[in-house]
Amino acid sequence: MNDNKRPDDMARITTVELAEKFIAAEVEKVQKQVGDRKVLLALSGGVDSSVVAALLIKAIGKNLYCVHVNHGLMRKGESEQVIEVFQNQLDANLTYVDATDRYLDKLAGIDEPEQKRKIIGAEFIRIFEEEARKFEGIEFLAQGTIYPDIIESDGVKAHHNVGGLPEDMQFELVEPVKLLYKDEVRVVGKALGLPDDMVYRQPFPGPGLGVRCLGAITRDRLEALRESDAILREEFAKNGLEGKVWQYFTVVPDFKTTGVKDGKRSYDWPCIIRAVNSSDAMTATIEEIPYALLHHITARITSEVKGINRVLLDLTPKPTGTIEWE
Ligand code: XMP
Repeated sequence: MNDNKRPDDMARITTVELAEKFIAAEVEKVQKQVGDRKVLLALSGGVDSSVVAALLIKAIGKNLYCVHVNHGLMRKGESEQVIEVFQNQLDANLTYVDATDRYLDKLAGIDEPEQKRKIIGAEFIRIFEEEARKFEGIEFLAQGTIYPDIIESDGVKAHHNVGGLPEDMQFELVEPVKLLYKDEVRVVGKALGLPDDMVYRQPFPGPGLGVRCLGAITRDRLEALRESDAILREEFAKNGLEGKVWQYFTVVPDFKTTGVKDGKRSYDWPCIIRAVNSSDAMTATIEEIPYALLHHITARITSEVKGINRVLLDLTPKPTGTIEWE
């Protein structure tokens, strides 16, 4: 039997009751596979790795070793939430690595998008490997592989890039949600008691804010991006758009424009709002944000975010624009 193939008769997990059945069966399976040995997991805070973490904590408790690498390109409050939920609430064995300086130093002056991505990916593998070597006797690597990853890439994960660990670090894989679709993973997360804003969060790219802080990343512009994104997310949540819109974020380009504030001229960055709907990220349409809300968000960003004096709206569907700007 091919255990990477979803059985034709496997019922779709649509309710918490069905999710609880799935969880009970997976807990038993993992306990059988792992016994009292140790499992390592890269916990990004995204839906898939968070659900795998919560499930494995239930199955093997402290024998799950979670590593959360903060690459400095996370959204506001994200790493803090990982620590709050997994360390404080679920009592997980969590190692938090603040690699912000390491990443931003490596990325300084690099403006080519694919090179930025490569640096971010390679650095992640290096840091994860360094952390993994500090633990003794790890035999398993858990991954948040989900069914679309298997279908899309013929078994090779496209976006979950821990597959690139060195050859002398061979682990047996633990992939408890690999036969589930994204909506099912969310229901399982809900049944495991994870917070809604973790379970229903919008897609967020592995390179994080790095692909939205255009060109060569600087700390001050990254901060302006993070703050403007936080305001956009807060306003979308307040106005019932969170969970309704597929993906929404701000982008800060690496050029400045003139402005005027408190009777003085300014020379600061613009900030671009992008909000799209999609079902598979291959194509996307534009969410029509009410103008009153756009005015309010513009007023907040230009008055609260240091370094931004202008707000623009991206009206381009995919195609011709990609969802991200880099
Ligand atoms: P684009 O910009 O290609 O994005 O229309 C399609 C979807 O993929 C996400 N995306 C990424 N995810 N690593 C990721 O894990 C990446 O390098 C990456 N680039 C884009 C993007 O956010 C959108 O959901």
